[in-house]
Amino acid sequence: MEKMTSDFKSHFPIFKKYPELIYLDNAATTQRPDGVIRAIHDFYTYENANIHRGVYDLSNKATSKFELIRGKVAEFLDSDNANTIAFTQGTTESMNIVARSFLPKMAKKGDNIITTLMEHHANFIPWQMYAQELGLELRVVPVDKNGDLKLDELSLLIDHKTRLLAVNHISNTLGTVNDIEKIIEIAHEKNVPVSIDAAQSASFYEISSKKLDYDFLSFSGHKLFGPFGIGILYVAPKYHEYITPYNYGGGIIKDVLVDKTTFTNYPYNLDAGTPNVEGVIGLGAALEFLGLWDKQIARNYLHNLIQYAEETLLSIPGVSVLGRPRQRSSILSFTVDQVHPHDVASFLNSDHIAVRAGMHCTQPLLDSMQTPSTVRMSATLYNTKEEIDRLREAIVELIKFWS
Ligand SMILES: Cc1ncc(COP(=O)(O)O)c(C=O)c1O
Repeated sequence: MEKMTSDFKSHFPIFKKYPELIYLDNAATTQRPDGVIRAIHDFYTYENANIHRGVYDLSNKATSKFELIRGKVAEFLDSDNANTIAFTQGTTESMNIVARSFLPKMAKKGDNIITTLMEHHANFIPWQMYAQELGLELRVVPVDKNGDLKLDELSLLIDHKTRLLAVNHISNTLGTVNDIEKIIEIAHEKNVPVSIDAAQSASFYEISSKKLDYDFLSFSGHKLFGPFGIGILYVAPKYHEYITPYNYGGGIIKDVLVDKTTFTNYPYNLDAGTPNVEGVIGLGAALEFLGLWDKQIARNYLHNLIQYAEETLLSIPGVSVLGRPRQRSSILSFTVDQVHPHDVASFLNSDHIAVRAGMHCTQPLLDSMQTPSTVRMSATLYNTKEEIDRLREAIVELIKFWS
C-alpha cells in the first residue's frame, strides 16, 4: 500500500513544485493529477468546439466526447442509463435543482421534508428556504455526542406527509460515514424519496445506484481530483418528469413559438446555454484516474491513516478531537486549548501544512456541539503517516509558543 500511495502522489505536479507541502484540506478541494490537467489542455489545444450545435467534425467530436462522459458518470454510479445524469456546477447547484424543481411538484402546504443537523449549508439552506416558501415543515434529524445521526429518531420523524429526505453520506466536518443504505431503506419503507449529498464520498465510497437505490445523488468534480465548476446530479428515472428547466435559453428547447415554448426532457433540459465543456472533459479524466485505484484498498488506507491521526492528535495535551463517530472517513476536526482555530491554521501554514479553520459551512452542527469553530484536517491517498507526525510536531511547537 505504501507503494500505491507513493505512486498516487507522483501523479500530482503540484507536489513536484512544492515538495514540502503537506496538503490536508482535501475536503475543501483535492489537488489535480496530470491526467486531468492534460485532458483540459489537449481539449483546448486540439479539440476545441462548441457542442450540440455544429455539423462539422470538430464539433461532432466534442459532442461525442461530452456525451460519452455522461455515460462514464452513469457507469461510475452503476447506472445503465446515461440519461439519469445531468451536468451541473457542483453539489450545491445539484441540490438546489432538486429543491427548486422537484419539491414544488411533490409537496404542498402542511407536508414536511427531512434533513439532518450534520449537513453542509448546501444541503440545509435550500430545504429551509423552499420549506418556508412552500409552507412545508422542515424536520431535522439530531446528532448524538459522538457525531452519529440518531437514526431511531429518523424513524419517528418520517410520516405520511414526508416528501423528501436529504442526507449526506459523509460529514465534511466530523468525517462521520452515515449508513445511507439503512437510511434509504427506512425512507423507502414509507415511500419517501431520498437525496444523497455525496460530495465527500464519491471518490472512494460505495455509491452504486443499483445497490443503494437512492433517488437523487449529487457530487462535485473538484472534490474527486477533477475541475472546479462541474458536478453531477443523478435522478432516478421515475422522477425525471419532475425535473423541469430552471434556466431558460438555447439548447433545451423542442419548439419556440411566439406565445409558447416546449422543452426537451431531463437531463438535457438543464443545459440552457453553452455548458461547461471543459469541466466535463476534466471530470471524465478524473473518473479515469479514480478507476486506477482499488476503492476498498483506498478506504482501508484512509481508515488507518485517520485512526493514526486521531491517536496522534489525542496524545498531545490540550488537543481535543470533535466527535467519535462509529465510522470516520479521512476527515477530522480538532481544537487546541486556548488557541483560536484560525491561529492554529496560520501557524501550521508557516510549516507548509494546509488545513482549514472555521465552521466548515456546518453552523447548525457546531452550534449543537457548542463549538464555535474547529481546525479540520482532511486526507486523501497522497497523505502519509509521516505527514501526520509533522502535523504533531508543528502543534507541539505551537503550544510551546503560545504558552
Ligand atoms: C458535504 C458537502 N456538501 C456539499 C458541499 C458543497 O460542494 P460545492 O461547493 O462543490 O458545491 C460540500 C463542500 O465542501 C460538502 O463538503
